[in-house]
Amino acid sequence: ITSAVIFDLDGVLTDTAEFHFIAWQAIANKLDITFDREDNEKLKGVDRENSLKYILSKGNLVVSTTEFEQLLKEKNDQYLTLIDEVNPSHLFDGVLNCFAVLKKSNVKIGLASASKNASLVITKLGIEHLFDFIGDAASVANSKPAPDIFLSVAHGLKVSPKNCIGVEDAVAGVSAIKSANMFAVGIGESQVLTQADLVFPSMSEFDFKRVETAFLLSAT
Ligand code: BG6
Ligand code: MG
Repeated sequence: ITSAVIFDLDGVLTDTAEFHFIAWQAIANKLDITFDREDNEKLKGVDRENSLKYILSKGNLVVSTTEFEQLLKEKNDQYLTLIDEVNPSHLFDGVLNCFAVLKKSNVKIGLASASKNASLVITKLGIEHLFDFIGDAASVANSKPAPDIFLSVAHGLKVSPKNCIGVEDAVAGVSAIKSANMFAVGIGESQVLTQADLVFPSMSEFDFKRVETAFLLSAT
């Protein structure tokens, strides 16, 4: 019954989640706002503007529109520097194997990232050709935890959301999958990704047979 598996990018296919963290922490430090990994957990999957809003509100800081735009640019410039060296060796273990299993099972592969840099990262990883549809974060009205990006990818793949499985490392992302009425696979810790239907510690443990069995059980 699985028609498609729709993947998040940052933190699922490669370790760019860490680069987002480093770049946000530099911005927070500069503004004298403390920003640790616990804060970062709330920002995973959250788009650029809302991430900065979170950091500013944590520091009770109000900035002008010009400053806000400048901070967004600074963060992205640093992020672009950090991802400059990304290459196919940065793909998480298990990803290529997982994609091969899906292709063999005639399951479509989609990408639902909140990042406006997603296409660039996918190209650097050398996996662009493996996707049947790549969602565009800039073209959806509401960002994660809203379901928009997952629904737009299902639409692009021409499959019904109820036959889709979403894969996410972020709390906001798992919420987005569930709001889209899809089966949610979490990559990370089950204590963190409490809304997920099934959690694997990492992509190398992703077992499509187990996913399908759990998916079938949940649908009955
Ligand atoms: C998500 C990341 O995939 O994309 C977030 O989990 C990031 O950390 C968001 O802020 C937006 O990314 P970008 O590249 O558009 O700033
Ligand atoms: Mg992610």
